[in-house]
Amino acid sequence: MGGSELRFVEEAFASNYIAPLGPMVDAFEKEFSAYTGIPHCLALSSGTAATHLALHHLLRLPTRPLTTHRPLVLASTLTFIGSVTPAIFEGCELRFIDCNRESWNMDPILLEAEQEECAKDGRTVAAVIPTDLYGQCCNLPQICGICKRYNVPVICDSAEAMGGRYRKSEASSQKSGLGPPLADLRSPTSELWPHAGFDAWASVYSFNGNKIITTSGGGMLASHDKSVIDHARKLATQARDPAPWYEHSEIGFNYRMSNVVAAIGRGQLQVLDDRVQRKRGVFAAYQHHLADVPGISFMPEPDWSRSNRWLTVILIDHKRFGTDTHAVREALERENIEARPVWKPMHLQPVFKGCRVRGGAVSEEFFSHGLCLPSGTAMTDADVQRVAEVVRRAPNT
Ligand SMILES: Cc1ncc(COP(=O)(O)O)c(C=O)c1O
Repeated sequence: MGGSELRFVEEAFASNYIAPLGPMVDAFEKEFSAYTGIPHCLALSSGTAATHLALHHLLRLPTRPLTTHRPLVLASTLTFIGSVTPAIFEGCELRFIDCNRESWNMDPILLEAEQEECAKDGRTVAAVIPTDLYGQCCNLPQICGICKRYNVPVICDSAEAMGGRYRKSEASSQKSGLGPPLADLRSPTSELWPHAGFDAWASVYSFNGNKIITTSGGGMLASHDKSVIDHARKLATQARDPAPWYEHSEIGFNYRMSNVVAAIGRGQLQVLDDRVQRKRGVFAAYQHHLADVPGISFMPEPDWSRSNRWLTVILIDHKRFGTDTHAVREALERENIEARPVWKPMHLQPVFKGCRVRGGAVSEEFFSHGLCLPSGTAMTDADVQRVAEVVRRAPNT
């Protein structure tokens, strides 16, 4: 916690607004909107709920073409499962798209190839869901450009990327060269460097316990389109129609965030910039301590991205390093240090057996060779150095 959360929670208790909804929820949505620059925001019980509502709304738009096929959703394969289960809840067919080496996120070239093939086969794509992996934005301008040509909405899964930014366009890159210093990026109104998810039709954020800021559990759906958020707001509260009694003309969900939880979120939002700075500091410290180790490389950051570095992730070339990722993870575990392999790609998950994937080899390689190191903002430089030392010594242990 950052320090002011308890004050907001006490305020919520003092006002006796403990039930879902209330002034803390309203204020949290407004403050989140001011931070991201996305005008309409809806606080929810989880990031998964946010993706579900976005998709549910989309599939019921009267403008959606009628087809005999199941709705098609194209999503990043290198992601967490909460990114894609909503497509299953909605009875969609999922197709996965591999990442590229530049950002470890959805490869726009593969996305375009898949869209082209879908169009040739007469299949309309209901939505594209790219993930901002480990706090690094996907190439949203390029992905949105492709999707615009095919008239497909983008739901950006920025669950891990709060505080992360990307450069708006090629034109702006000439102005900004290598990109502004972090201090400038921290201005939420930075037009050249919008917040993660900004250009999408809708974007999704998570306040799960492991995220860069947390409400212990929660999520946010954001959109430039007020009608999306208005409908999602209704769906999230059992789709209650405006009437003095309980009237329902469609099926909804119970997905709203409570007023007490929103109070925690308000406090957390105040420290988000500091958290990004510290996460980037942890990443830089690992880089410094492991710079001379052959066979270890870090998740890259393209010049158009300013990741929040939610997790520091390394790739281990076992031949050059002397041992493999599995052995490094075990060496850390022996020292009571938790490290995790990179997300197992969705196309390798037993539950998605038979789903089509475009590409796949890159995310498979990252899964085999990638390791997420401890990256908590409470870590001191000495903590980082200790972890780095265990990694460095792993071939000899
Ligand atoms: C990439 C990604 N998408 C979706 C989610 C789901 O968010 P939540 O746990 O809030 O439902 C998470 C994390 O939990 C995530 O990391």
